[in-house]
Amino acid sequence: MSLYKFFRPLIFKLDPEVAHNLAINFLSFTPNLATLFTANQDYKNLQTKLWNLDFSSPIGMAAGFDKNAAAFATLSKFGFGFVEVGTVTPKSQIGNDRPRIFRLTEDEAIINRLGFNNSGAEIFAQNIKNNLPKFRGILGINIGKNKDTENALDDYSPLLAKFYKDASYVAINISSPNTKNLRDLQNENQLDVFLSEIMKQKNELKNLHKKNTPILLKIAPDLTYEEQEKIAATIIKNQIDGVIISNTTISRPTLKSSSVHETGGLSGKPLFEKSNEVLKNFYNFTQGKIPLIAVGGVSSAADVYEKIKCGASLVQIYSAFIYQGFGLVEEIKKELSGMVKKDGFENISQVVGAHDFKANPAK
Ligand SMILES: Cc1cc2nc3c(=O)[nH]c(=O)nc-3n(C[C@H](O)[C@H](O)[C@H](O)COP(=O)(O)O)c2cc1C
Repeated sequence: MSLYKFFRPLIFKLDPEVAHNLAINFLSFTPNLATLFTANQDYKNLQTKLWNLDFSSPIGMAAGFDKNAAAFATLSKFGFGFVEVGTVTPKSQIGNDRPRIFRLTEDEAIINRLGFNNSGAEIFAQNIKNNLPKFRGILGINIGKNKDTENALDDYSPLLAKFYKDASYVAINISSPNTKNLRDLQNENQLDVFLSEIMKQKNELKNLHKKNTPILLKIAPDLTYEEQEKIAATIIKNQIDGVIISNTTISRPTLKSSSVHETGGLSGKPLFEKSNEVLKNFYNFTQGKIPLIAVGGVSSAADVYEKIKCGASLVQIYSAFIYQGFGLVEEIKKELSGMVKKDGFENISQVVGAHDFKANPAK
C-alpha cells in the first residue's frame, strides 16, 4: 500500500480545502521532505516534442491545484512532464463562500465552486520569480478574469503581457463554471473578437520578446456538437496553438454520493467519457493539426492511453491525485511506457489519434 493510501483516511477527515492548503504549504516549505519518497524515472518512449518544447512525459498537473504558483518547483519532482499553474486573475479575490469543495468519495469525483480564489497577479509573479530557478520542466500559466470585470480583455490582455515571457505556454481559461458569464466567451461571435485580439497581442509580444509562447484555449465539456464545431472553426481561423479539453462539468450523471446536488463543476471519474467525446470531436474538426491537451477523469495508465488514442498529445490530471496521491504519476508512466512498447509503437506520439487504425507495429 502506498504511503498516501495509508494516510488517506486521516486526510479525508479534514475539510477538503483545509487539506489542500496544507498540501500546498507542505510542498512549498518542505520541498525535500515532500519528494523524499518519489522515484522519478524518465522513459524514452514517453518523451514528446510539441510547439518546439521537450516534454519528458505527456503527463501534466492540471490547473487549479497550484493556483498561486507557490509549489510548482516541488511538484515537478513527482515526475510530471509539465505543470500548469493558476488560474490567476489580475486582482486577488477570495472566491465564493465556504464550503466550496466537496469530495464525492464513492464516485472518485470532486465538486468545486471556488470561483477563482487566488492571491492576484503581483504575488503570482513574485512566486514565479522565486520558483522558476528551482523548476525543471514545462510551465503552463493559466489566466482568467476577476469576477467584477465586464470586458474580459481588460483582464486577459495585461495578464498575457505579464506572463508571456516566463510561461512555456499560456492557457486562456474561458470555461470555469464558477465565474458568472465566463463561459459566454465561448459563443461564436464573442470568441472570434476575443481570440483575434489575443492573437494580435501575441504577435506583438512574440516580436518584442523574440519568443513564440503557444496560446492554448481551455474549453468546457458542456457544449453541443454544433457549438464545438463553431469553436473549432474559430480556433483554426485565429491560429490558436492548442486546446485543453476540458474543464469541469455542470452536468450531473447518476452518482452515488450525497453531495451530488452541490452547485459547481464536477471532476474526476464521472467526467471521463464526457470529456473524451469533446476531445474526439475536436480531433476530427481540427484534422489532428492542432495539439490537444486532454483532461477529465483520468485515474490510470489505461485512461491516459485512451485519451491519447482519442487524439490528445498530452494529458493532465487533478482529481485522481486526491484519491491516489502523487505516486500515481510514476505508476502511470511505468505502465504507459509498457503499453506503448507492447503495441509495437516506438514513441507515444505515434499513438495520438490511433483509435481508427489497428496498432501499426514499427517496422
Ligand atoms: C478543486 C479544483 C479547482 C480547480 N481550479 C481550476 C482553475 O483554477 N482553473 C482551471 O482551468 N481549472 C481548474 N480546475 C479544473 C481542472 O484543471 C480539470 O480541468 C478538471 O478537474 C478535470 O480534471 P480531473 O477530472 O482530472 O480533475 C479545478 C478543478 C478542481 C477539482
